[in-house]
Amino acid sequence: MKSHNINIQYTELEVDELSGELLKLYQSAKKASQTAYAPYSKFHVGSALLMDDKTVITGSNQENAAYPSGLCAERVALFFAGAHAPQSKVLVLMVYVPGVNRPAAPCGSCLQVMAETEDRQSNPFKVILANDERVFMMNDVQALLPFRFGKRNLLS
Ligand code: THU
Repeated sequence: MKSHNINIQYTELEVDELSGELLKLYQSAKKASQTAYAPYSKFHVGSALLMDDKTVITGSNQENAAYPSGLCAERVALFFAGAHAPQSKVLVLMVYVPGVNRPAAPCGSCLQVMAETEDRQSNPFKVILANDERVFMMNDVQALLPFRFGKRNLLS
């Protein structure tokens, strides 16, 4: 029998410590949360992607009376990027939830889509989980989803 440990490294910052493009990205994600359509959960989420051409793509969660038909903020932004800027790479994904004191943790399906985005662009991107006070920064999706399912699993 072998036991293994996986350690993840992340950085915690106060929102006041953000500057430059990360502060702008935070403000974009916060603004995007105001466009959430969340009449069922009342849980408003905003996301913002910093792309390698310096543009920012935002998303918010979009719910539906048929609950599973809704989509999380992260996937709204990532699929928009795939559809409208397929040649651009994501450098940073910020996800923001207001009024909570925990990091805005992405769901498993969003992590899976983030993992595919990294594979597709052959470059990892930073993931930043934000609330009103703090941000938690990971260097890549691997930190949040170490045993990711990807194309390599299908082919081997
Ligand atoms: N949600 C997101 O948009 N992103 C997350 O990271 C977690 C959950 C949404 C889905 C649903 O509209 C609401 O939050 C409650 O689950």
